[in-house]
Parts: sequence; C-alpha cells; structure tokens
Amino acid sequence: MSIIASNFKTNHTRKSTASFVKEVNDFLVSEEISNDVYIFPTSTSLDSFDTVSNFNIGAQNAYATQKGSFTGEIGTEQLEEFEIKTILIGHSERRHILGESQEEIAKKFSFYSNLGYKIIYCIGEPLEVKEQGIEQTLEYVYEQFVGIDTNYENLILAYEPVWAIGTGVTATNDDITSVHSAIKSKINKPLLYGGSVKVANVRDICALPGVDGALIGTASWILEDFKQIIKNTK
Ligand code: G3P
Repeated sequence: MSIIASNFKTNHTRKSTASFVKEVNDFLVSEEISNDVYIFPTSTSLDSFDTVSNFNIGAQNAYATQKGSFTGEIGTEQLEEFEIKTILIGHSERRHILGESQEEIAKKFSFYSNLGYKIIYCIGEPLEVKEQGIEQTLEYVYEQFVGIDTNYENLILAYEPVWAIGTGVTATNDDITSVHSAIKSKINKPLLYGGSVKVANVRDICALPGVDGALIGTASWILEDFKQIIKNTK
C-alpha cells in the first residue's frame, strides 16, 4: 500500500474539483482501496468537499499566521473553517518560482508543526546540481532540512527533483534509490517520490526500496489517470 498525493497546483475550478473529489471518494469506497490518498486543490476550492470520507484534503500553501495583514495569503483562520489540517511545505515551485527562502520555509514548518498539522515537506535539487553528482545532490538536499524538525511526528517527506517536475523526464530508478536510501538512513519518515510520475511508471517507482508513495502533479489532474494510479499502487 502506497501513499498517493495529488497536487493540483493552479488547475481545476471549484466545480471540477468538487466532482473530481466526489468521483475519487466513490471509487475508493467501491473498490475498497485503502491507500493513503491526499488531494491538494487550489485554495479557492478548499470548501467543496462535503462528500469526502476516505481521503485527505490539504492546502498547497498558507502563511505562518492565524490571520493578519498578509495580502494574497491565507492563514489558519481560513484553513480551519474548512477543517483543513494538512499542508504542503517547501515545494520547489514555491522555492524557485515564488522565491521562498529556507528561512521562511522553516518558519512555516515550525508554525504548522506546532499546531499539529500533517506536513508533506518537499525537497529536491535543480538540474545543475544533479549534473554535479550524487554527493552535491545530497548536500543540496540536506541544506533543505535546515531549521526543520525531522522528528516531527506528523511528517511525510517528498523528494521531487526539480528537473523531473512537469518535464516528462522521470528520475531513473537508480537516481531515486540513491537519494531515497541516503535520506532514509538519516530520517525515519515516509518518503514519497515526485516528478513526472504517471500511470505507466507509478507501480515500479512505488515498489522501489525506500519509496513509500508518490506526489503527483500533471498525471493526477486527469480523473481516470489518477484512479488508475491509485489502483496500480494499492
Ligand atoms: O508536487 C507534484 C509535482 O511537483 C510533480 O509534478 O507534473 O511532474 O507530476 P509532475
């Protein structure tokens, strides 16, 4: 049994999210599937889930605050209105496109872990680092744990090499196992792989040693593919 998480990023409307979630829920019930399934919709769709019973809905992001003057952000006052207690932190798009520093990420981690949220914490190296070799890759990835309490009980990790995200270029099994086994030898937490995971490769990836599941973008936005992914890894 694998942990399967879908990150919608900036995809789907409230309407399509609501029907997607209902379909996934019905599918899990009818197939009696017990995978640990997560969906991270856009923040505008966090309230469309009165039908969910068999999986977890999480926030892709929120600010380290209950409420306040943080234009464009949401805090725990808004998350709790929708009973959201799961959050993604450290995603590469927030690090590299939206400019979140390790310091800000660590502050967010500490804020949400103090409140007991389930955290999926992402790490992963860009292509120029991968090309320097495994030692530099691990060094880069370890830097992304600075300020993070890796003993936090409600923590799931996700290794997502930046060069594999949304590119169709999945990391090789060797790439995945070397990074996963190195991280696992230091941190005893569930560890997902993310980066161009799809129906055709999810079973093999999830069967690798040190891989506890997958965090999926593109392939998970298509309902039939997401259901098949869940089925392939149950
Ligand atoms: O968080 C999931 C992710 O960044 C991977 O995206 O499109 O490569 O599956 P994708």
